[in-house]
Amino acid sequence: MKFFIDTANLAQIKEAQDLGVLDGVTTNPSLMAKEGIKGQENILKHYVDICNIVTGDVSAEVISTDFEGMVKEGEALAKLHPQIVVKVPMIKDGVKAIKYFTEKGIRTNCTLVFSAGQALLAAKAGASYVSPFIGRLDDVSTDGMQLIEDIRIIYDNYGFDTEILAASVRHPIHIIQCAKVGADVATCPLSAITALLNHPLTDKGLAQFLADAKK
Ligand code: G3P
Repeated sequence: MKFFIDTANLAQIKEAQDLGVLDGVTTNPSLMAKEGIKGQENILKHYVDICNIVTGDVSAEVISTDFEGMVKEGEALAKLHPQIVVKVPMIKDGVKAIKYFTEKGIRTNCTLVFSAGQALLAAKAGASYVSPFIGRLDDVSTDGMQLIEDIRIIYDNYGFDTEILAASVRHPIHIIQCAKVGADVATCPLSAITALLNHPLTDKGLAQFLADAKK
């Protein structure tokens, strides 16, 4: 399973890259705003800065909601850097835009996916990635992980090569569950990735080894 980091924070992206396990980055307008990145020029520059830190795919989201607007924005984003994947919302014009980008050889990430039917549409339009939001489903008492399992079955039934990018991952248990049910990618906050490191028996065992080494 690939690990993406879900942030626009350059320091966190660098830290995850330095750990040696990072395969890509996802961003969205909320994450960009959180870092105080404002204005079209600064936003585009920030995407390039991210691409220069990581070696994998970097999702950059369009903010238009009509087909023409998404195409214009997406083409400009795709031209920024070969690692850019254009992130498009799961709406009617978004599906049309994904089809258009696919035919032009521009890679896409279909975002804000909350049902298997939406994931099927994204794959049929040729999305490179589909982003089901696990945590936000859990927030409304719906099993987010069940959605990942359903999409896995559907994509495998028909050999869709759209990658399942589990998004809105909140904690290490989500990551483990994603790996068990066969998500292709989990995009997570840095805290969820580093939490995978921790086990009290590792700390206890290491302390004992170090103490014994002094004997
Ligand atoms: O990748 C989508 C993600 O940023 C949403 O996460 O925690 O805002 O639901 P969250």
